[in-house]
Amino acid sequence: MTDILLVWIETSDPRMLEVNELRHVALFEPFGIPRCDTWNDDIPGVHHLIAVVGERVVGYSCLIVDDDEGQVRQVCVAPRQRGAGIGRALMSEVVDEAARLGLGTVWLNARVSAEDFYRRLGWVTTSGEFPFGRTGVPHVRMEYPQD
Ligand SMILES: CC(C)(COP(=O)(O)OP(=O)(O)OC[C@H]1O[C@@H](n2cnc3c(N)ncnc32)[C@H](O)[C@@H]1OP(=O)(O)O)[C@@H](O)C(=O)NCCC(=O)NCCS
Repeated sequence: MTDILLVWIETSDPRMLEVNELRHVALFEPFGIPRCDTWNDDIPGVHHLIAVVGERVVGYSCLIVDDDEGQVRQVCVAPRQRGAGIGRALMSEVVDEAARLGLGTVWLNARVSAEDFYRRLGWVTTSGEFPFGRTGVPHVRMEYPQD
């Protein structure tokens, strides 16, 4: 099992440069979408989570908090690091953070290609499919059940 360090960082953290590279490579490059580092990272309530292996940022997700609601966005793992539990570790920490913050609803728009990944981790689909985001690929809304 790879040693994975999970760290919540500020938007001003220099490691966000690595995050920008990762988000592009993992989320958009496969669709031929040109790199654009406009990520709305300064929106109120943003919490950035990175997964670090060695010295490298290999995973990322953010949690956008709005009142008692949290939206998870941009979940991604570097292509060569997939299948090693990094995505699971990220999502576990995101859910734990949402609980620490006392959020009532935690939700995300999942690419249909990742729906089963989230479902295995306890997320529940709450919508039909709809095209979304820069890729326009089909997504579904999912929520993490609260106790
Ligand atoms: C989806 C993603 C984050 C998963 O990260 P990962 O580090 O490979 O996932 P893990 O190794 O932690 O996998 C956890 C479990 O989910 C499964 N899994 C991983 N990706 C899956 C997928 N796309 N569909 C179904 N199951 C998946 C794994 O096999 C593993 O199963 P197990 O419980 O039997 O061991 C990663 O593949 C990725 O970055 N994909 C491209 C970007 C993307 O689509 N992000 C989601 C946007 S909504």
